Amino acid sequence: MRLGFLGTGNMASALARGIGEPALCFDPVEERAEALARELGGEAVADPRTLAERADVVVLGHKPYQLEAAARELSGAKAIVSILGGVDVSALRAAYPDRPVVRLMPNTPVGVGKGVVAVAIEEGAQPSAEETRVRAEVIALVERCSTVLEVPDSRMAAATAIFGVLPAYVAVWAEATVDAAVRHGFTPDEAGRVVAAGIEGSAALLRDQGHDTLAVRRAVTSPGGSTARGLRALDQGGLRETVQDAFDAVMDVA
Ligand SMILES: NC(=O)c1ccc[n+]([C@@H]2O[C@H](COP(=O)([O-])OP(=O)(O)OC[C@H]3O[C@@H](n4cnc5c(N)ncnc54)[C@H](OP(=O)(O)O)[C@@H]3O)[C@@H](O)[C@H]2O)c1
Repeated sequence: MRLGFLGTGNMASALARGIGEPALCFDPVEERAEALARELGGEAVADPRTLAERADVVVLGHKPYQLEAAARELSGAKAIVSILGGVDVSALRAAYPDRPVVRLMPNTPVGVGKGVVAVAIEEGAQPSAEETRVRAEVIALVERCSTVLEVPDSRMAAATAIFGVLPAYVAVWAEATVDAAVRHGFTPDEAGRVVAAGIEGSAALLRDQGHDTLAVRRAVTSPGGSTARGLRALDQGGLRETVQDAFDAVMDVA
């Protein structure tokens, strides 16, 4: 299956990198498409029409509000994969009628082979045999770089709030911890390395413990100890409540 990326920004590039196939690339900024094509061993094309003609599947990597404008240029596309936030399957079908459409919600760690990708299930729909085939091939490709979760289309916004935005949240957590560590005499580089390793190790431990957050937490928290004092400070700062608010804020538009 020959993929064509329409828009080679942050998310599309990460996905292309994670899949690791030579692909066709188009971006209004020519150098951006050329750089990604070079990295993939693919080819930058001059316009969306050529992308539509030559790709088996076009991956929409532009901004969500550009859906209709892009569709006018891609009328010849054989099949569509969308990573557009907040654009549901019915809107995709309206823009790209009579051809396979697959809606994905990836996160940026796909670029380093450790992503999560939600694949939308359209409630009550009877997909064509062609769409079933394209969907299976697309899932096999994204499984190279991610944990794949098939979810009803109506739950894609919640999926975005769980893991689509998570790299940004983890980055903010890491940044705040590095700032605190620098205040206590570590260099930013030392602190950055151990914070990233600590986050990676904690995630691996959670997985190992069957995602039992309480067990992981209790194993670090001795009675009357320093972790208990730190956790109390986080609760007093409103961490849990803030996470709930952040989830709802993402869902408002995702
Ligand atoms: N970033 C994430 O973590 C993430 C996660 C999941 C889904 N998404 C979705 O991924 C999409 C892209 O987001 P992003 O963060 O990667 O944004 P981005 O870095 O700004 O990438 C968008 C790219 O598309 C190009 N573009 C604009 N109009 C185009 C057109 N008509 N045809 C082809 N290319 C066009 C842009 O060029 P210009 O800069 O010249 O406009 C830019 O290179 C969005 O729909 C977003 O909802 C993002």
